[in-house]
Amino acid sequence: MKFSKLIKKPKSYFKVKPNLEDYNKTYKNFNYKKHYKEIEWIKKNKLNAAYNAITKHTLTEKKNKVALYWEGPNGEKKEFSFLEMDLLSNKFANLLKKYKVKKRDRIFLFLPRVPELYIAFIGILKTGAIAGTLFSAFQSKALEDRLKDSGAKIVVTTKELKKRIYQVKRNLPELKHIIVVDDKKRSKQEIDYQKEMETISQEFKIEETGPEDLAFMLYTSGTTGKPKGVIHSHLACLHEHMTSKYVLDIRDNDVYWCTADPGWVTGIAYEILGSWSVGASSLVYAGRFSPEKWYSLIQKYQVTVWYTAPTAVRMLMRYGDKLVKKYNLKSLRHLCSVGEPLNPESVKWSIKVFKRPFHDNYWQTETGGIVIANYPLMPIKPGSMGKPVPGIKAAIINDNGKELPANKQGTLAIKPGWPSMMCDIWKNKKKYNSYFKKGWYITGDKAFKDKDGYFWFIGRDDDVIKTSGERVGPFEVESALVEHPAIIEAGVIGKPDKLRGEIIKAFITLKPGYRPSAALEKNIQKFVKKRLAGHAYPREVEFRKNLPKTRSGKIMRRILKSQELGQKVGDTSTLEKF
Ligand code: WTA
Repeated sequence: MKFSKLIKKPKSYFKVKPNLEDYNKTYKNFNYKKHYKEIEWIKKNKLNAAYNAITKHTLTEKKNKVALYWEGPNGEKKEFSFLEMDLLSNKFANLLKKYKVKKRDRIFLFLPRVPELYIAFIGILKTGAIAGTLFSAFQSKALEDRLKDSGAKIVVTTKELKKRIYQVKRNLPELKHIIVVDDKKRSKQEIDYQKEMETISQEFKIEETGPEDLAFMLYTSGTTGKPKGVIHSHLACLHEHMTSKYVLDIRDNDVYWCTADPGWVTGIAYEILGSWSVGASSLVYAGRFSPEKWYSLIQKYQVTVWYTAPTAVRMLMRYGDKLVKKYNLKSLRHLCSVGEPLNPESVKWSIKVFKRPFHDNYWQTETGGIVIANYPLMPIKPGSMGKPVPGIKAAIINDNGKELPANKQGTLAIKPGWPSMMCDIWKNKKKYNSYFKKGWYITGDKAFKDKDGYFWFIGRDDDVIKTSGERVGPFEVESALVEHPAIIEAGVIGKPDKLRGEIIKAFITLKPGYRPSAALEKNIQKFVKKRLAGHAYPREVEFRKNLPKTRSGKIMRRILKSQELGQKVGDTSTLEKF
């Protein structure tokens, strides 16, 4: 079992007193009811996460403070104060009302990280509708699955991206309008964002939603079937607020940079709802990854708290220490990462170059916020995810729901009922119910807890792939693959990769008349990229004569993975042929 020792954080790290001063005491006495007043309620029992993130600040001296520093791919810059965000999102809410948006309608954002994404997200919540986000990398098939299942009424998008929606629009009967943020109205169904926003009122009465009312949804991948719509309520913002404070250690004079895209839950919880709730100025950079650019952004905006993903840290590490020294990064105070295991080397490297460690934390789209974390004042064991956040009871359990003793590997589970726990899976109660067993919420991850109470990640309990922190369901990739004219069958696995955590590897069998070749491999990769998304294609393709299957014809990814890793294949008695 991998154990590493506690590491010391450099003295200079402790210059500022962290928000969470005593983990053990806070954890022991924590009761969510006592913290309801940490967030702003419209009135008794009425909570709207948009009001809490933005509007509440306009009633204080913070109203003219920068909420969003935005920098585009070509260095374009924009700034928005809390007041400006509030008024613009009011306008957007009025725009939605004009087009008959009602409470619980699904409004999807298919946008790159432009300021309109943030304005529209807040505006949607203000109307009581449900905001959904989509990575701008998604291609037609991925869009169709998500927009169809959710019955989205409106999609907000750009001139460039709308083409992909038109490719599948005939299969989306519930889609009434397309709001285009950077183009003139071209058809009856389209709405010109810029033009409408010019004249529409900036006064809006926010929907007085209840804490349990639905606020946002994200499609996420499991092992089987299409991606599922995970839904969160307005009350999720309470947990997101508390963890922004205790884990990310954000305070209102921070310049905070979360590198996540709101197509991913991290970009919603910790770029919109939690981080603005604690009053920080947020930086959003809409361009591509480049180490020079990233360091220069930290230097220019004097970023104090930085939240990113382990793959990004590993990429930065690759570019070496010398590059870091070219920039003045002294503003950095606290560093966190999420999404996949953070390897000990990355923690040690960050201490060396940034004089502070990356603090790993763990959560899922379904948990709606961080549930296990390393905290500023707690010593880090590099490689460990840390300890449960106050308000969360996490445990390692066996198949009977029994808690296992220290150092025993089992299923990572959480006691249900924390405020940001998903409240449903869209139109799929059966799937929702399948997450809960013997009084626990089952994460689907394997882990163990050491004798000091630190949690260690082992791996997924299912076939879900994590590549560069992105969650990809093998089924979605396999479905795209088998639509290729040359392919009969496909089995997809995550193959361990030093940089990306995992890469997608596909095993395929070809139809008669097709022969394996490098050109065919390229063609297949392109085919998947064009249907799903840039990150969801198999970086490796292996042509096989046949694939291991159960007698009922199900492809055994488990076997493919064992073979790939050179491990013992285990029980094959149920296999058809092998
Ligand atoms: C994995 C991400 C190891 C895990 C916010 C989980 C992690 C899945 C960590 C959720 C971590 C997340 N160490 N693995 N610190 N954080 N994971 O829904 O397998 O995209 O179940 O949400 O990522 O991925 P999701």
